[in-house]
Amino acid sequence: MEFNDLLMSRYATKKFDGKKIDEETLDKILEMIRFSPSALNVQPWKIKVVSDQETLDKLSSASMDQPQISSCSHLLVFCANPDMMGNAKKVVASMEEMGVPKENIEQFETVINTFIGMFNEEAAAVSEAQHNVFIAVTTALYAAKSVGVDSCPMQGFDPVSYTKILDIPAELVPTMIVPLGYPADEQMPKMRFSKEDIYF
Ligand SMILES: Cc1cc2nc3c(=O)[nH]c(=O)nc-3n(C[C@H](O)[C@H](O)[C@H](O)COP(=O)(O)O)c2cc1C
Repeated sequence: MEFNDLLMSRYATKKFDGKKIDEETLDKILEMIRFSPSALNVQPWKIKVVSDQETLDKLSSASMDQPQISSCSHLLVFCANPDMMGNAKKVVASMEEMGVPKENIEQFETVINTFIGMFNEEAAAVSEAQHNVFIAVTTALYAAKSVGVDSCPMQGFDPVSYTKILDIPAELVPTMIVPLGYPADEQMPKMRFSKEDIYF
């Protein structure tokens, strides 16, 4: 599908039909998400994949009872991982493994140290990680549509309850959720502000 077709046919699905996405299709979506861009490639996210119906039903009540949660096939819970230093160390280790020249790695380390210095405060690190999570969420929406799966980006949930129900490690911050599946609703006409209104 051309990107423009993906863009126009993807919509915030309000209800799914409960049919399960097969493993191969799900894997394709998860692989595409993994290749999302992030600042200095620190990939500050962890994504919990939930498909067990009992858990989805529990999460539904922590999501304002929005029907997407208990009717979806899989729910992706995008968590921000504000451990910038830990993430940066993993990037350096991966660069070494890939045989990136030492001087390039050293250059990267200089830049990354300045970058990390900007996020010494926990709140700043969380905010930075969350900005990156939004990019990964966007990838998820279009990746899913590209393999015939519908989705909805959602922030209408309680991160504290999610942390408890899913036993999410305390350092991670549930930021956005994306239910995936096959629709049981109809796409509404798209409303967007005009070009004149947006571009200046
Ligand atoms: C940050 C964010 C949070 C959202 N939260 C919800 C939500 O909790 N429930 C929901 O049904 N849709 C949610 N949406 C979907 C938007 O309402 C939807 O994308 C918007 O109305 C445009 O419609 P479209 O995606 O169908 O083009 C959210 C979208 C974004 C980007």
